[in-house]
Amino acid sequence: MCGIVAYIGNKEAYPILIEGLQRLEYRGYDSAGIALLSSSITLVKKKGKVSELVDHAEQLNGHFKQTVGVGHTRWATHGAPNDVNAHPHLSGDGKIAVVHNGIIENYSVIKKALIEKGHVFTSETDTEVLAHFIEEVKNENKLGLEEAVRAVLNKVVGAYAIVVLDIDEPNKIVGARMSSPLVMGIGDDEYFLASDASPIIKYTNKVVYLNEGEVVSITHDQDYQIRTLDNKVQSPTISELDLKLEEIEKGGYPHYMLKEIFQQPQTIAESMGGRINSYEGWAVLGGMNQNLTRIANSARIVLTACGTSWHAALIAEYLFEDLARIPAEVEYASEFRYRNPIVTPNDLIIALSQSGETADTLAAIKLAKEKGALVYGIVNAIGSSIARETDSGSYIHGGPEIGVASTKAFTGQVTVIALMALYLAKVRGTLEESHYRQLLASLESVPSKVGKVLGKDDQIKYIASKIQNASNALYLGRGYNFPVALEGALKLKEISYIHAEGYPAAEMKHGPIALIDENMPVVVIATNKSAYEKIVSNIQEVKARKGLVIAVVTEGDQAIKDLADYIIEIPEIEEPFTPLLSVIPLQLLAYHIAVLRDCNVDQPRNLAKSVTVE
Ligand code: G6P
Repeated sequence: MCGIVAYIGNKEAYPILIEGLQRLEYRGYDSAGIALLSSSITLVKKKGKVSELVDHAEQLNGHFKQTVGVGHTRWATHGAPNDVNAHPHLSGDGKIAVVHNGIIENYSVIKKALIEKGHVFTSETDTEVLAHFIEEVKNENKLGLEEAVRAVLNKVVGAYAIVVLDIDEPNKIVGARMSSPLVMGIGDDEYFLASDASPIIKYTNKVVYLNEGEVVSITHDQDYQIRTLDNKVQSPTISELDLKLEEIEKGGYPHYMLKEIFQQPQTIAESMGGRINSYEGWAVLGGMNQNLTRIANSARIVLTACGTSWHAALIAEYLFEDLARIPAEVEYASEFRYRNPIVTPNDLIIALSQSGETADTLAAIKLAKEKGALVYGIVNAIGSSIARETDSGSYIHGGPEIGVASTKAFTGQVTVIALMALYLAKVRGTLEESHYRQLLASLESVPSKVGKVLGKDDQIKYIASKIQNASNALYLGRGYNFPVALEGALKLKEISYIHAEGYPAAEMKHGPIALIDENMPVVVIATNKSAYEKIVSNIQEVKARKGLVIAVVTEGDQAIKDLADYIIEIPEIEEPFTPLLSVIPLQLLAYHIAVLRDCNVDQPRNLAKSVTVE
């Protein structure tokens, strides 16, 4: 949700900022801009992608030599995506430039007061208000830039990561964060600030993740200093990034999404690495050990998440109840925090998040902590806010996920949840030993079986070509495959803009059946051993209304093969782990349909990878 990159050093800032913005573009891509600082500020902004900003900059014929600058790629909150609303925003006197990720909730009150003092605004954004406010406070109180930024941030309400430049202090950049991420890279005689490490890794692996309410002031050829909003100097923790440049590149694939789909045998294996051994008969998550008794005796598990992570949470509900016999429920993070939920210290709250930065999920866990619950995070992005805010947790170790539509993070989350459920089942004694061991072996077999499903890519592409012109699609599944139906439908609508709905198969007759005709593709996930006959009946109901059935079935299935128009076979697996296989063809189907429809697969319209606003 908006990407920020800033540079101060000896090199020309412009190419570093542009490359950084391209890496951050997954966070938002409706407009982009840069501000370069010397004795003046050079501002270049453009509606659209970073490539359009580059074209525009080239037309200006700029050879930008400045060594200090900031860039921003936007996902609009306040004001339409256009050139004027694009960041950076300038103060009234044009001396201060600000980029911002987040929302300033009290911006209209501040704006009104500033207008009364004579400030004139050109954009509709909350960010421009920040720029003017910093100018006002700085001039009125004769403050330096960093002090003025702190003074202003003490008066604003909302979420922000900001970077500020000031002509009066041309050797300095100031950054700050509250509920939106900001990381500082420390290179040789150069510094970076960015929304994540991807623009930094090429230059250094030494980083400092800013904490909530911290302000960093970086002066080139001197040093940096981090203070809290109430002016306490902080001693920063320098971390080493465990990230390689090739991890954030497409690696020969036409799209990040396809690369990430095909990475899944490896990423699922990484999620399990050192955490399971069927031969010795154990599954363990280190993150659970420090609170094992409390977790195992939880009265209830509440899973909270958004988007695809919410679908993984739904599978978790089935796994925890089925294997570990702990009551579990799933909450949209955005609903949970605003509905006065009953949460007690006997509850375990599990937050699932790829980015670890989703504002609603972050707010939900803060609420759960206030109510005394133990909060566990299942997160992909190392060092992210949710990872740091939770009491304990497990990383999924999926590596950077850049395609906006989440794929490998989903299977990583489900894998970690499966390990967690198995660990709890063992501690609580809820499974027969032989069944437990069978499940361990089955889970260990997932990566190679995912590899087999990926081998059906050509067949799935062919099916995609048959339904690419549909206007609507229905996805049906039962039990463990119901959340997979939701996820398949979400993938399709996110990237191909075909309206799609996921439904529990048996619920179809309570509504969606009215929509079925020969133009309606119905994707049925029909691998369940339990309720197999029932799902066959559901397919018959669809066929009776001339729907086009694409069925995901277990290898060797005959009954559905005879009924369905197209089938995709997946290897046999223990039912609780079916989602890890059955979701793969649905990811590929959505991908190929989107490519055939000429959609921007990695950056679908209106979406962003990391939603750091409510
Ligand atoms: C956005 C992304 C989705 C993601 C959701 C939750 O909507 O586009 O792909 O599932 O946020 O994000 P999280 O990082 O918390 O998993």
